[in-house]
Amino acid sequence: MTEDIMHDASAEGAEQSFEQSLRPVTLNQYIGQALLKERLNVYIQAAKTREEALDHVLLYGPPGLGKTTLAMVIANEMGVGIRTTSGPAIEKSGDLLALLNELNAGDVLFIDEIHRLPKPVEEMLYSAMEDFYVDIIVGEGPTAHPVHFPLPPFTLIGATTRAGMLSQPLRDRFGIVEHMAYYNTDELATIILRSADVFGTSISEQGAYELARRSRGTPRIANRLLKRVRDFAIVNGASEITDETVDYALKLLKVDKMGLDQIDHKILHTMIDFYNGGPVGVNTIAANIGEEVETIESMYEPYLLQIGFIQRTPRGRQVAPLAYEHLHIPYPNKE
Ligand SMILES: Nc1ncnc2c1ncn2[C@@H]1O[C@H](COP(=O)(O)OP(=O)(O)O)[C@@H](O)[C@H]1O
Ligand SMILES: [Mg+2]
Repeated sequence: MTEDIMHDASAEGAEQSFEQSLRPVTLNQYIGQALLKERLNVYIQAAKTREEALDHVLLYGPPGLGKTTLAMVIANEMGVGIRTTSGPAIEKSGDLLALLNELNAGDVLFIDEIHRLPKPVEEMLYSAMEDFYVDIIVGEGPTAHPVHFPLPPFTLIGATTRAGMLSQPLRDRFGIVEHMAYYNTDELATIILRSADVFGTSISEQGAYELARRSRGTPRIANRLLKRVRDFAIVNGASEITDETVDYALKLLKVDKMGLDQIDHKILHTMIDFYNGGPVGVNTIAANIGEEVETIESMYEPYLLQIGFIQRTPRGRQVAPLAYEHLHIPYPNKE
């Protein structure tokens, strides 16, 4: 059930249309990320004044913080079209060429999970990004010849949860590189109140704040939990979601007071019970709990680091005293 809250592949279609319905469309409606928004607003206004395409944008940060949403907001604010794809979906350079070929001047090409682009595709992007052309080889054998293929000026927006996995040449071609930060409780509560409005659900301010505190700084999780909590309210015949409804529902969903779910607990308990709190390598943790290293590194670890529950050391990850306190486990003697 908890995995469901984080990533539910089986319900992806329904999930996407659900998220779609909650997406803000203008920078003004986009909550939080204040500095990032301010900077982007300047770049967008400047590009519009110059009647040029916006510089290429790289957005990185944990899943669910609004990267895809922001890409759409940018295209909307620029008044241009957007084509959306993802790194693994572009298998060959031909696929990329087809996408580029359909762009109008100024359009946005959004590539999600850009760290997963195949190498030949990535290399083709270099000239496309830098000078708006690609060189392709047409024909085979003795008749093979290069063709210079000019492109309209466009904006590439790349999103990734793993900035460190991007090659230097690719990263260097983005004029705007922005890190997405976790949202604070006020921002999440605002998002929750807005989403409840979209759903036609009523939630008290305390209810929204309780949910916000338990959403791991992540709008996607806030919205998903809201959806679940709403179900509990409906079944219990409650006309309004209160902080008590939230508490009751999240207890059943095994989301604790800090928003940690069963997997977070498994990670912490594995480190504490088997490795005396660490340091222990992330590969070892992953193997112990049967999760992908990538999932732990992009989804769980950043939040546990953020709230100071684990620390990164040269010899691996270590559980911090704060986490022991939260779990009501005495901090061990480490010599
Ligand atoms: N700044 C924001 N303001 C309001 N809602 C947001 C914001 N950021 C994200 N969301 C909500 O969270 C959901 C997940 O955002 P998304 O852009 O898909 O995240 P990412 O692409 O980073 O994984 C969206 O459906 C949107 O409703
Ligand atoms: Mg996304």
